[in-house]
Amino acid sequence: MASEKLLKELNDHFNFELLSAYHYMAMAAYCSSENMNGFAHYFVEQAKEEYEHGMKFYQFINDMGGRVIPRAIEEPKNDYSSFLEVFKEALDHEEQVTVKIYELLDLAREENNYPTIQFLQWFVEEQLEEENSMKDIIFVLEGIDGNFQGLYLLDKELGSRQ
Ligand SMILES: [Fe+2]
Ligand SMILES: [Fe+2]
Repeated sequence: MASEKLLKELNDHFNFELLSAYHYMAMAAYCSSENMNGFAHYFVEQAKEEYEHGMKFYQFINDMGGRVIPRAIEEPKNDYSSFLEVFKEALDHEEQVTVKIYELLDLAREENNYPTIQFLQWFVEEQLEEENSMKDIIFVLEGIDGNFQGLYLLDKELGSRQ
């Protein structure tokens, strides 16, 4: 079992993962509107991943005897003026998720809630990967500096993401 407080925080995080999916959907839509279908594909895949992360929390909350309460999802950022801005926003969002995972872990530790500590380990690694892949793309985009040929090649590469 978990405390009411821990269950509430887990539920909040379930909702935050869905908000992440919503942010990535908006980023995908922006990239599509700019005819960069590889970038758009990358963010659609990212949105699917965030939904899956949310569902990991959904399953875990059930397993811990809690009940998932889906909350209203706020409007994501929909106005972008460059791909660099999109990826910087994505990195910023991932950093917020990482902080939330660490805070959850701190709470689970305070309560000696071993199943939750164990459950969150996967997310600690996942966040490190997510932040690093965003940083890699930002590094490339800064090098490309708006050059069409560079953007075209990166679009092809991101379009091949599984
Ligand atoms: Fe996530
Ligand atoms: Fe993520």
